[in-house]
Amino acid sequence: MTRILFVCLGNICRSPTAEGIFTEKAKRAGLSHLTIDSAGTASWHAGKPPYGPMQAACELRGYDLSYLRARQFTTQDYENFDLILVMDQSNFDDVENLRPEGRNTPVKLFLDYAEGTNLTDVPDPYYTRDFDQTIDLVELASENLVKQLSEN
Ligand code: 4NP
Repeated sequence: MTRILFVCLGNICRSPTAEGIFTEKAKRAGLSHLTIDSAGTASWHAGKPPYGPMQAACELRGYDLSYLRARQFTTQDYENFDLILVMDQSNFDDVENLRPEGRNTPVKLFLDYAEGTNLTDVPDPYYTRDFDQTIDLVELASENLVKQLSEN
């Protein structure tokens, strides 16, 4: 069993997109034994579905995000997951600041898996309004992560 958590700031744009797309790609690859979830470092949108324009862009690309609901990241997530994948450096710092003593759960930038792009952060589409860029980057990183998990 591998438990993977995607984290961004609001949990209404980038990390639910990552959860939805990675879940779909893992399913298509026949990967079972995965637990997949997402969370935001901020609590603002807890209980809300993904941001409307983000959902609409995903829908056009064949991904349904409507079943997802936002929640805030907690220190408990360090125990409940085996791998925490963050969308940008500021998420990385926020998540690392909550690391319980003695917990060595890896926290990585999701774009570490996105070979062929020189970006390290997934730009926040809530501000850039480039929802397709989010989907492109998330698809690329998800495909590489699925490939890596399929080989292990
Ligand atoms: P996310 O984008 O971190 O990709 O979910 C954001 C969504 C909402 C806000 C900021 C970022 N906000 O300020 O409400």
